[in-house]
Amino acid sequence: MSQHDDKRRKLLGRLNRQLAYTAPLLALVVGGAVLQASAGDDAAVADFASPSDTSLMLASNHAEGAAEAQGEAEGEAQGEAEGQAEGEAEGQAEGEAEGEAEGGDSAAVARPEGYSPAYSETGDNPREMLVRGEELYYDTSLSSNGLACASCHGSDGQDMGYNPTFEQPFPHRVAMAANQFGMSEVHADEMVQICMVAPMAAEPLEWGSEELTSLAAYMVEVQRRVAGEPHDL
Ligand code: HEC
Repeated sequence: MSQHDDKRRKLLGRLNRQLAYTAPLLALVVGGAVLQASAGDDAAVADFASPSDTSLMLASNHAEGAAEAQGEAEGEAQGEAEGQAEGEAEGQAEGEAEGEAEGGDSAAVARPEGYSPAYSETGDNPREMLVRGEELYYDTSLSSNGLACASCHGSDGQDMGYNPTFEQPFPHRVAMAANQFGMSEVHADEMVQICMVAPMAAEPLEWGSEELTSLAAYMVEVQRRVAGEPHDL
């Protein structure tokens, strides 16, 4: 395994612990994964062995207090997962599950120094950019765990999984960004990156890439739709 992969795996391990507090919300929105996780302890254990960090998290949450097991899993997720997780998962984790900021790596998700994005946060983006962003929003290949953005945030304008703070124009405060990455407010593209590395369990998109630009532009439109502002979707 390359050093890079190793670093990423550690980061994801940390993120998953920190994500435990959002698990109830996620549990609401990731219906399929939850069904899987709630099928019983066997399923939860099986999920520990799966490569999906998100279902690891969801399964852990279901197991009530499994964040400790996630901590253990950080270094040794695979081996550990083979069937021992159940025993360790019982009731150890309440403290960690409160979502205390442990400091996610904001360097991976914050705009680089001097970066200037190719989309506008006031909603003035070309139609093709929005169409492309919408396409990516449904694209499960962006994640490493089979999820698309729409898996959690809903399809066809359902606009699920957002807090009321989403009604403020970007940049604004987002609980997940503040609690896990110590970022007091985020731009749309930074939030896309956070959802890429945390719930989507993937690498951040390349800064300046058309994927990141289009997704961020699309999110600005969704934000405007949710806020009841004129929008272009
Ligand atoms: C596993 C579920 C999940 C997936 C998949 C997911 N998100 Fe999120 N998303 C969340 C949660 C949880 C929040 C945090 C809500 C909060 O803290 O206010 C969030 C917040 C956001 C926000 C911020 C809303 C605001 O208030 O500004 C944006 C934008 C966003 N997600 C975009 C995306 C995009 C784009 C993708 C795909 C690349 C994606 N999300 C994938 C769960 C998910």
